Formats: sequence, C-alpha cells, structure tokens
Amino acid sequence: MRIGIPRESRPGETLVAATAKTAAQLAALGYDVVVEAGAGAAADQPDAAYEEAGVHVGSSADVWASDVVVKVNAPTDDEIGLLRRGATVVALLAPARSPELVERLGAAGVTALAMDAVPRISRAQSMDVLSSMANVAGYRAVIEAAHEFGRLFTGQVTAAGKVPPARVFVVGAGVAGLAAIGAAGSLGAIVRAFDVRPEVAEQVESMGAQFVTVDMEQEVSTDGYAKEMTAEQEAATAAMYDEEARAADIVITTALIPGRPAPLLVTAETVAAMQPGSVVVDMAAANGGNVAATVTDQRVVTDNGVTVLGYTDLAGRLAAQTSQLYGTNIVNLLKLLTPEKDGQLTLDMDDVILRGISVSRDGEVMWPPPPVQVSAAPTGEETTVMPIEKAPPKEVDPRRRLYAAGLAAVLFLALATAAPASFLPSLTVFVLAVVIGFYVIGNVHHALHTPLMSVTNAISGIIVVGAILQAPVDNLAVQLLAGVAILLASINVFGGFMVTRRMLNMFQKG
Ligand SMILES: NC(=O)c1ccc[n+]([C@@H]2O[C@H](COP(=O)([O-])OP(=O)(O)OC[C@H]3O[C@@H](n4cnc5c(N)ncnc54)[C@H](O)[C@@H]3O)[C@@H](O)[C@H]2O)c1
Repeated sequence: MRIGIPRESRPGETLVAATAKTAAQLAALGYDVVVEAGAGAAADQPDAAYEEAGVHVGSSADVWASDVVVKVNAPTDDEIGLLRRGATVVALLAPARSPELVERLGAAGVTALAMDAVPRISRAQSMDVLSSMANVAGYRAVIEAAHEFGRLFTGQVTAAGKVPPARVFVVGAGVAGLAAIGAAGSLGAIVRAFDVRPEVAEQVESMGAQFVTVDMEQEVSTDGYAKEMTAEQEAATAAMYDEEARAADIVITTALIPGRPAPLLVTAETVAAMQPGSVVVDMAAANGGNVAATVTDQRVVTDNGVTVLGYTDLAGRLAAQTSQLYGTNIVNLLKLLTPEKDGQLTLDMDDVILRGISVSRDGEVMWPPPPVQVSAAPTGEETTVMPIEKAPPKEVDPRRRLYAAGLAAVLFLALATAAPASFLPSLTVFVLAVVIGFYVIGNVHHALHTPLMSVTNAISGIIVVGAILQAPVDNLAVQLLAGVAILLASINVFGGFMVTRRMLNMFQKG
C-alpha cells in the first residue's frame, strides 16, 4: 500500500505529518511512502532530507491518489474530493465538534481515523497526539511569556542591585500546565499552580512548584478529567484566582474540561488590577479562553499595560519538534495497524484504540465510539463498555506469610540457642535491621528511589569497610561471610555507578 503525506493547506500551518526520519520508519513497515514536494519546508524538513531517507517526493496528485493519506489538519471539502473511495485518511479530525465533516467523510466512502480521539489509556500513550502537542505548547507558552516580559525570570544578586525572581501562576495542571510549570521553574521563576483535581498536587510539587489550596470540597477525579465546578466552588476559587493573578508577573491558563467550552476564570477586573508589564498566556483560547481579555490568535495589550496572548498555534511555533512528535505518534499508530509489517493496513474493530479513533469505515459512519473507561482512581462502579486487558491482582495467601514468619522465628531461636552468648546481641540487631529495613524501604515512594540509592550506597560503603576489617580474623566462617559481604555491597556500589552513568548519558547531546 502507498502512504501519501500532503502539504498542509491551512494558511500559516508549519507542521507536517511525517519528518524524513518518521517517513523512513513508515517505509520500514512495508509501505511505499510519497511526500508532497515542499510539505516539510516550514518544519526544517527539505525535500532532499526525505530523498536521503529513501522516501519519494512527488506531486499533490501522487499523494492524494494514495491508499492511505496522513495529514495534520482535517481535509477540506476539496481535499476529500481528491480521496479515492476505499482510501484511508488519518488526521486531527475533532469529530465531536465537526458532525458535518463526519458526514462528508462517510459520504466519500473513505475510512477516516482521528488522531485526536486516541483514548487516554496507558497502551495508547505512544499515539496520544494531544498530549505530545500540549507538552510542546506548555513549554512554548512560557517562552512566549518570557519574550514579552521585560524582566528576568530568575532572581539574581548583581553589583547593580538585586533582581527578584518572576512569579508565575499556572491554572490547570494537565499536560500543558505541567510542561509550563517545568519550563518556568527551570528558567528560575517562583511557580504556583492550581487545579480543581486535588490529586495533581503531588505532581505539581514534585516539579518544584507550590500547589495553591482553596478552602472548599474538592473531589478526586474518577476518570482523569475535571468536572464542572459547583456554584460554591466557583465562588471559593474566584477570590483565589483574583489574588494569585494580581500577585503574579506571568499567568498561564490551561483549564479545560473535554467537550465543554473553557471556563472563564480570570475576569476583566483581575486583569485590570495586574501590574503593568505582566503577561497572560491563555492556552485555552481555541476553546473560548479562560481569561476575559483574550482575543483568539491575537496579542492584546490592555490599558493598564498587561499583555494577553491568545495564540492557538503554540505547538506549531516549534514546528520541527512538534512534527517529529506527531510523526512518531503516527508511526506508532501505523505499527498497530500493520501487525505483520507487510505494508497492509488491518483495522481491527475489537481493538479499543482503533475502534476509538474510527470516524468512518469504508463510508460507514462509526462515530461516536462506545465510551472507554479511563479510570484514574477506582470508582467501585462498573462503567467499562469496551474491555481493556488488566493483569489480575496478585493474591498472596496469608498462610504463606505466617509460615515464612514462623520459619524465620524458629531459625532465629535455633541460632540463638546454638551460638555463643556474645553473639546474641549482634544477631538481634541484625534480625531487627532486616525486618525494619524491609518495611521502611518497601514503603519508600518510587519518586524517592534515587536518594534512597545514595543512602544504600553509603551503607554499602560502611559494610565493605567492616568486612575488610573482619577478613583477617582466623576463622573460615567469618572470612567467608566477609567475602560475601564485600561482594554483595560492591555489587550495590558499582551497580549504582552504572545506573548513574546510564542516567547521565541520557542528557548527553548526540
Ligand atoms: N494554544 C495552543 O497552541 C495549545 C496547544 C495545545 C493545547 N492547548 C490547550 O491547552 C489546554 C490544556 O490542554 P491539556 O492537554 O493540558 O488538557 P488536560 O485535560 O490535560 O488539562 C486541563 C487541566 O485543566 C484542569 N481544569 C479544568 N477546569 C479547571 C478549573 N476550573 N480550574 C483549574 N483547573 C481546571 C483539569 O483538571 C486538567 O488538569 C486545552 O485548552 C488545550 O486545547 C493549546
């Protein structure tokens, strides 16, 4: 089968659905790939790069006559007219918001797959374009704000005076919000953030920002998405938004509940009370905006000198990076669609991901798909409509634990009876250390495993020194034990070095 990558027709579009690298990966799945001349120019992907990667560069007609057409934006009416009956088109189709487009794709007799409808389940993460784009956009929102802001983000003490760090307030800690928190923090700003979902507080704090709390009832989300606020919650948060925004130099808003217009959170009065030179980036501009002063796709400067950015193309402003991520999401989808790697597309409707993104199949409208449970917390209710494979929970027989504890106690007593009296205190300390160590280390949160490793390395160092001191003792059992201790502790020390080396290599350029 042939995959065609057209040049995007939307005015000002910088993205392309495949870079030279991802186009070659598509070809490796057995497809014949053709890219329209000039398709990647705005994303630093000249035609020569595709040719070097072994991919054909062709005309618009070549591309649109393909069996599978992969795009970024939804096809226009004219473009739908160019598709062959029975062809497949993959793009960001926003089917929930575009019922007419869904009808037209059905009438054209094509199979249409919406990249923006990938369900947010772990198996689909590698295809989740909304997350990869929101991640880039969150970063870019901070860069745009830094560009507009007339001061440094980081605090400094210089010979010419003290520079205070910028204060950044992020509203909504989903994918875009967390990326903005990370970028603003790494530039040296003091970052505060709020989200209606209290469970994200830990993620916000793990990124070095402060989670703003409000005195109100907050419910842990059952599906990873926020619910619309009650009137009391709205009243409680309104005062906080006002206070935080007035105190901030930069406000970045990302609040959204899927399928609803964006909630208005920062009022015109609040913007009017912000300091001149402050910057607001309203990432929800495409969905109506979280800020009263936002004008979609515009840079607005208010009477009191606050710059409000309503750009909806933040991801496209980093075209090379976003195209690479989008292209990789496409490759991952095509891998799922091509299980035999034989260049033949297989649309398995029993697969929850493929069913979820199917808008039409050979002209038959398939939208909307049955709902998929994307549970972030156990609900106690049966809401699954399509089955998602789950590993059965491991059941540990409580009797086995009892036997193990009994055996350990018998061994301890046998050793205590047989060994000389002077050995007993050391044995007691050893057994207690094993039991306490087991429970303490077993309960350490995985985010703290790196500092834990440093501590265990330090302990291992002490063990090695102790064992070296014991080694000359004229007793074979002691020498053997010292040898085993040196070996095991050294594995921990050198293993730690190897893991650290691997981690550092990840940050090396090239
Ligand atoms: N401007 C751009 O170029 C661009 C690019 C990509 C994404 N976006 C937009 O960024 C926004 C965020 O995208 P995302 O992928 O991070 O979505 P997401 O669903 O992961 O995050 C949205 C967050 O907002 C929170 N939220 C909802 N209502 C809230 C409220 N009243 N107060 C505080 N928090 C609230 C949710 O709990 C959630 O954590 C969306 O509007 C998306 O369209 C914009």
